[in-house]
Amino acid sequence: MAVRPVLRMGHPLLLQVAEPVREFNTPELDALIEDMFDTMAAQNGAGLAAPQIGVGRRVVIFGVAANPRYPDVEPVPTTVLINPEIEVLDEAQEEDWEGCLSVPGMRGLVPRYRRIRYRGLDQNGDPFEREAEGFHARVVQHEVDHLDGILYPQRIRDLRYFGFESELFPQLGPAVDSPVGRE
Ligand code: NI
Repeated sequence: MAVRPVLRMGHPLLLQVAEPVREFNTPELDALIEDMFDTMAAQNGAGLAAPQIGVGRRVVIFGVAANPRYPDVEPVPTTVLINPEIEVLDEAQEEDWEGCLSVPGMRGLVPRYRRIRYRGLDQNGDPFEREAEGFHARVVQHEVDHLDGILYPQRIRDLRYFGFESELFPQLGPAVDSPVGRE
């Protein structure tokens, strides 16, 4: 297990389209997923995509546990999602604040589809699908964007709503540890 450095916006690997995974239950894939979970936990993130640690494969992880300190945070099941596809179930979009481990210290107001179905493969290569809405749907869209070389600032409609977390949310203080929006 290893915590890997997270690439930051400006690194060219974050702009590449990642390749599908074709082999499962290999030491390489299992080590990648383990390192991704270690890295996400170390950074207190809600999700992570393989390209963020420099691996150009279509692998994302995410998950947010229910936390009594943040009762407004909707829990998201801990998930490994490989070769994902997203189907939009409702054309309606809603805007909410996002952050990203590759854009540290910043937040932006990003439109996302409210309801989606996503499908893909789990760590063993078995297919699954889920419907998701709200924060869960947002996290999935954010992570899948990483696989296509898209970072959330590219989705912001009005750049007045992009800035430093500590300026946008001074009431949260310097030690913000809410997982929301750190994807
Ligand atoms: Ni991100």
